[in-house]
Amino acid sequence: MSTILRRLPPSEATGLRTGARHSLAELYRPADLVVLGLGVMIGAGIFSIAGRQAASTAGPGVILSFMIAGIACLLACLCYAELSSTMPTSGSAYTFTYVIFGEVWAWIIGWALILELQLAAAVVARAWGEIAVGAIANFGVTVPNRGLVSDLLVFVIVVVLTGIVALGARIGLRALWIMVSAKLLAIGAVIVVGLAHIDVANFGDFYVRPVTLSVAPQTVLEVVFGESQAFGWFGIFAAASAIAFAYIGFDIVATSAEETVNAPKAVPKGMIRSLVIATVIYIAVAVVMVGMVSYTKISLEAPLSSAFRAVGADWMVHVIDAGAVLGLTTVILVLIVGQTRVLFSMARDGLIPRRLAAVSRRYHTPTRVTLVIGFAAIVLAEFVPVLTMQELVVIGTLFAFAFVAAGVIVMRRRMPYLERGFRVPLSPLLPGLSMVATLWLMVNLRVLTWAWFALWMAFGLLVYLLYGRRHSLLARPRPTPDKPHGRHRR
Ligand code: ALA
Repeated sequence: MSTILRRLPPSEATGLRTGARHSLAELYRPADLVVLGLGVMIGAGIFSIAGRQAASTAGPGVILSFMIAGIACLLACLCYAELSSTMPTSGSAYTFTYVIFGEVWAWIIGWALILELQLAAAVVARAWGEIAVGAIANFGVTVPNRGLVSDLLVFVIVVVLTGIVALGARIGLRALWIMVSAKLLAIGAVIVVGLAHIDVANFGDFYVRPVTLSVAPQTVLEVVFGESQAFGWFGIFAAASAIAFAYIGFDIVATSAEETVNAPKAVPKGMIRSLVIATVIYIAVAVVMVGMVSYTKISLEAPLSSAFRAVGADWMVHVIDAGAVLGLTTVILVLIVGQTRVLFSMARDGLIPRRLAAVSRRYHTPTRVTLVIGFAAIVLAEFVPVLTMQELVVIGTLFAFAFVAAGVIVMRRRMPYLERGFRVPLSPLLPGLSMVATLWLMVNLRVLTWAWFALWMAFGLLVYLLYGRRHSLLARPRPTPDKPHGRHRR
C-alpha cells in the first residue's frame, strides 16, 4: 500500500492507552455533552446571521432555510454519532478518516477541521467584540473609538478563554454550565416576548418572489444557471448554506469523546440531543424574528434588536445583548477546546510536531497546543477581515461531513465486526442522503469560497508532503508483539 494511504488500525484509534503524558482524563457525563453542544452551537448564527439572511436573501423563507440546514445537519449528526460511538477519540472526523480511508485523507480532513475551528473561533471573537461594544453603547455610554475598543475586548476575551481552557477542562465546564444556562434564559425571553408581538401578515406566504440581481453570479449554482438571484428558492437554499454556520458545533461534541464517561453511548446521545434542542430553538427564534416585523425592516447590523425595537419592546435589546455576549463567549470557549483536541490527536499521531501533544502534568490539559491556538485566534481576529470569511468555516465543516457520511458506509462493509454504540438507521440510505444534502449545501456557497478553500487545502497537502508523511508514527517500524504500545513510547 502506498505510504500516504496507510491506515491507522482501529484498535489504535483511541489514544487512551498511549501513556500518561498523552492521554486525557474522563470528565464529561451525558448532560455535560448537551451543554457543550448548546454552548458551541447557539451563537453568531442565530444572533446575527439569521436576521441578515432573512433581510437580504430569504425573507420569511428563512424559517424554511433553518429547517433545510437542520435536516442536513441531523443526517450528518447521525453519521458522526455512529463513528464516534465506534472510535471514541478526540480526533473526531480526522481519526475516523485515518482508520477508514488512510493517512493522506485523514490529513486533508484534519486540515479542513483546523480551518473550521480556528477560523470560527476568530470569526466569533470578532463578532463578540462588535456586539460587546454595541451592548455598551446601548446602555447610553459613549464609546469614543469603537474600533479600538472592540480590538481590545477581542484580545481580552480570547486571552481569558484560552487561559480557562489551558487551566483545565473542569474549570471550563463549570463556567460553561453557568453561561449556557444564562444564554438559554435570554433566548427563552426572545421567544416568549417575540411570540406576543407576532403579526401573521409578516409571514406572507413564506416565499418572496425571486429578484434577479445586477451583480455577477456568485454561488456555484448561480454560475451554472448564469444569473444572480436573491429570494425565491435560490435564496432559501443559499440562506440554508450560510445558516449552516449556526449548526456548527454538534460535530465538535465528538472531539470530547476521549474525555467522556461511557463514550460509545453518551456521545451519540449528547450530540443528537443538543442538535435537536438547538434546531427547535433556532426555528422558534426565526419564527418570532420574521413574524414581528416585515423582513424588509430587519436591520443588517443588529437584526434581532431591530425587530424588537420595531414593535416597541426596546428593553429586550439589553436581554439580547446579554444573551449574545454570553452566547458567543461559550461558542469561542468550546471552539478552542475542540481545536485543542483535534490538534492534540494529529500531534499524537506525529503528523504535526509531537511536542504539541504533551499533556501538562499539573493541569491535565494539552497546554502547549492551547496556547498556540489562542495566539492564532488573536492574530486572525485582530488582523484579518474574518467577518467576511464565515463561508470558509462552513465549507471546511461540510467537507468533513461528507467524509464522515461516506465513512459510515465504507466502515460497515470493511469492518462490520467493530462494536458500535450507535448505528445510523437505514444505512446506506441515510448516510447517502447525508452526502447529497451536504454537497447540495456546498454548491450553494460562493465560487470565491471554493477557491480559497482549494488554496488552503493545496497548502495543507504541501505541509503533509514536507512534514507529516515523514514524521507520522506509522512511518516508524511497527511494534514487536511483546511491546504492544511501543509505537507510543517517548
Ligand atoms: N454555531 C456557532 C455560531 O453560530 C459557530 O456562532
